[in-house]
Amino acid sequence: MYQVVGGQPFFDELARRFYDRVRDDEVLLSLYPDPDDLGPAAERLSLFLAQYWGGPTTYSDRRGHPRLRMRHAPYRIDLGARDRWLDAMTAALSATLRGDTDTTTATDLDDADLVVVERQFLDYFTMAADHLVNATD
Ligand code: HEM
Repeated sequence: MYQVVGGQPFFDELARRFYDRVRDDEVLLSLYPDPDDLGPAAERLSLFLAQYWGGPTTYSDRRGHPRLRMRHAPYRIDLGARDRWLDAMTAALSATLRGDTDTTTATDLDDADLVVVERQFLDYFTMAADHLVNATD
């Protein structure tokens, strides 16, 4: 998948677009330890996702085993936060796959492949986000 979507630039763009949305979502933003500087969080997400989808292991080389549930334990993630995270990621993913006015890194997948790739990402994100819920609404 890493190759199919165009390698690291795709994941960098996805994380950048995702965090642009986090910045505008006061509920999500309030969870971040350093809301004024989301750059490092975006980089960790980009490297993690690239590694998960078959790219280089830079994330684990720097951060060790992902252990995402443990790493999210300090943050109160209820169903509402999960939904907001998924909404932001769904929008960021669509924009990154298709491109729009402020990007140059749209993938060159045809429409049929694009729908399949998008579905695979969304299935994964839904499963992962469900797994990270650690509080009730
Ligand atoms: C369900 C809603 C979620 C919320 C509210 C949430 C929130 C957060 C917060 C507050 C951080 C700390 C940022 C920082 O280190 O500065 C973080 C880190 C991170 N999140 Fe999430 N997250 C969610 C779901 C996910 C999902 C589904 C993934 C992956 C598919 C993910 C991947 C990561 C990664 C890779 C890090 C950095 C971990 C590290 O190396 O320290 N998160 N998240």
